[in-house]
Amino acid sequence: MDLLRRFPPHMSTRPGGPSEPTKSASVSGARAVVLVGFMGAGKSTVGAALGSRLGWPFEDLDQRIQTREQRSIEQIFRESGESVFRQLEHAALRSAVEEMGASVKVLALGGGAFAQQNNAALLDQAGIAAIFLDAPVEELFRRCQEQQLDRPLRRDLDEFRRLYESRRACYLKAAVRIETAGKSVEEVAAEAMASLGLR
Ligand code: S3P
Repeated sequence: MDLLRRFPPHMSTRPGGPSEPTKSASVSGARAVVLVGFMGAGKSTVGAALGSRLGWPFEDLDQRIQTREQRSIEQIFRESGESVFRQLEHAALRSAVEEMGASVKVLALGGGAFAQQNNAALLDQAGIAAIFLDAPVEELFRRCQEQQLDRPLRRDLDEFRRLYESRRACYLKAAVRIETAGKSVEEVAAEAMASLGLR
């Protein structure tokens, strides 16, 4: 994973438009950080960079699901369907949140997790700050294409955009929103740390 990879330049069609500033809520004293956002937002890449800056372990929730299930995300969707995947995702998040009570961690969620009300409520009840990594939808689509990762919910751009738009209000409930377009992974990680009052 190239942590110095630069997110490509901002595109002209950012949803919400230029009048929507990056949220700058400061969540001081945080002991756990959760990164949320759509597919291609850079949650895992930034999460790993943030973890190494903080000296905190980093975990990808999809990885926990795959390890528990001994199946890939793609296999779970194909063999069991999305609703089973969502149940597995919630159970995995619950166990991760329980562990976070005892130790520091940076956790990256899969793109749909924070859009599920039960998951957002779980984080809220545990007092864990969520950081929303955002980018223009065309940019997110293009990043996914480059990664060549098998994402069951990434089909054509129109469908991808519809799903992004239907979830965006949920992502905006995160304590902090960081625009990632045109920034390096390290810049985004530094912004995340500053927003948490951690340096
Ligand atoms: C999903 C995003 C994926 C993965 C699953 C479902 C979604 O994670 O959890 O394919 O619903 O947006 P990434 O955001 O890491 O691709």
